[in-house]
Amino acid sequence: MIEARMWHPVAQSTALQAAPLGVQLLGQSVVLWRDDAGTAHAWADQCPHRGAKLSLGRVCAGHLECPYHGWQFAAEGACVKVPALPEFVPPAGHAARVFGIEEHYGLLWVQLEADPTRAVPPFAAESDGGLRKVLCGPYDVATSAPRIVENFLDMAHFGFVHEGWLGMREATAIDDYTVEPTPTGLRATQCKAWQPQSNVHSTAPAQVEYTYEVVAPYTANLIKVPDAASVAVQGFRESIGLFISPLTPTSSRVWFRLAMADFESPDAKLQDFQHTIFMQDKPVLESQTPQCLPLDVRAEVHTVADKASSAYRRFLKQERITFGVC
Ligand code: FES
Ligand code: CO
Repeated sequence: MIEARMWHPVAQSTALQAAPLGVQLLGQSVVLWRDDAGTAHAWADQCPHRGAKLSLGRVCAGHLECPYHGWQFAAEGACVKVPALPEFVPPAGHAARVFGIEEHYGLLWVQLEADPTRAVPPFAAESDGGLRKVLCGPYDVATSAPRIVENFLDMAHFGFVHEGWLGMREATAIDDYTVEPTPTGLRATQCKAWQPQSNVHSTAPAQVEYTYEVVAPYTANLIKVPDAASVAVQGFRESIGLFISPLTPTSSRVWFRLAMADFESPDAKLQDFQHTIFMQDKPVLESQTPQCLPLDVRAEVHTVADKASSAYRRFLKQERITFGVC
């Protein structure tokens, strides 16, 4: 499965403290833990001895200790202690299954199968000093990751799902926009919407222009620029990263990385706006059947307003993605 060679977010960095943390990724149970130096590790959440969940254990002196027979595993995965046999020196094969792990954008990212040619998906706004970053989530959503990406790219739902916020019934027409494939997904530009309350600082309805980019199968971002007159904050602009952990083919964990030209508002104010918007999306997302995203063009019907969605489906097909699609 190609997805196993890609990097996926699994938890907020701050969620991983002294105790091990069990998460799911692509149907695989993963244990996350930090050693004495604070370095994060990601292993299969299954003890190589008798299969107990290592996430039920604890960290002792920089080693992860299994909850069942107390075997201890050092940072690189090797078993270094078998309490039932104090003199025993475990062979190399007595080791935990180790995955790749990195920290980016306030999240822990895991790669289940080593592939040095692949990197954590980019989020350009992260290195933009003019934008303040706030993480929003996690949200557990009972649908596939691709359905969530597609919702993020979709503007035709604004006037219905986000009525009075990102859209209104009096202005539901979608002007033509441009979609181009990129090596990592797609870019949609000149996506325009008339929005009553386009962001936390809106003072009047605004014509907003979006650029969307899919930068990995389950990762997308947008850049949103409202017209100047409608925003109280001078030069306001924002970028939002959508980071999805594909837990199972039909369940996902979602974070938004908000990057905004606003260094005054408390985190909670920025998070509340995004929370309101996503709570409007969630019940509709969870109502869609099938939960997997159908890649066969005949499975659902399409219009030209859906061309970003169609391009996304073609990209998943071309990448031979199988998790969360059908
Ligand atoms: Fe982990 Fe036995 S199952 S030590
Ligand atoms: Co929405």
